[in-house]
Amino acid sequence: MSTVVRLETDQLLRSVDELADLLTDTVNGGASVGFLAPLDRAAAVDWWRGRADALAEGGLAVWAAYTRGRIIGTVSLAFPDKPNSSHRAEVVKLMVHREGRGKGLGRSLLATAERAAAEAGVTLLNLDTETDSPAESLYRSAGWTRAGVIPDYARTPDGVLRPTTIFYKYVVAAEVSEPAASR
Ligand SMILES: CC(C)(COP(=O)(O)OP(=O)(O)OC[C@H]1O[C@@H](n2cnc3c(N)ncnc32)[C@H](O)[C@@H]1OP(=O)(O)O)[C@@H](O)C(=O)NCCC(=O)NCCS
Repeated sequence: MSTVVRLETDQLLRSVDELADLLTDTVNGGASVGFLAPLDRAAAVDWWRGRADALAEGGLAVWAAYTRGRIIGTVSLAFPDKPNSSHRAEVVKLMVHREGRGKGLGRSLLATAERAAAEAGVTLLNLDTETDSPAESLYRSAGWTRAGVIPDYARTPDGVLRPTTIFYKYVVAAEVSEPAASR
């Protein structure tokens, strides 16, 4: 059983080591989340520390999923600072540790972010993900709409250029279901 918690800035700063373990596991496992492999743990710690200002200023919201007291997954929402975009947010850095995958946690984290976005008055979510990845299957099955594919968008951790699929989803507070308990 996992518990999903929204992190305050001080909690994020206390959790950077565990979050860095999750990020390095994800990148070194081959997932395309913005980094090349091998991702150095110190660089991953610095990257998470670098999120603190945005979290404190309200430009970012971060959730962590705990299993037996350890962070096993995370998801974030990035809020644009443009005055014409306050109705939208981007789902970023959805990651589940390889040891915890396939048990419904990714779906639960995504639902948590969707529900929080809707409750905050956001009506439109967007994201991009490597085309044909497991994450793409998750977004499709969670009701996201595929807007299109951009070829050669980003390198995989081992350096191969791959396409990305752009997704969006309209969210309304009353219509976003409770996240399913982790199986
Ligand atoms: C994508 C990710 C978060 C899914 O987490 P998870 O906890 O394993 O996912 P769930 O168990 O909740 O599965 C939800 C759905 O994802 C899809 N999925 C999960 N693993 C899959 C796989 N290996 N192959 C194909 N589809 C898969 C399925 O549609 C699944 O639904 P189902 O169980 O009804 O078939 C996880 O694989 C991960 O961290 N990947 C690396 C990071 C990444 O790519 N993040 C997305 C960045 S945009």
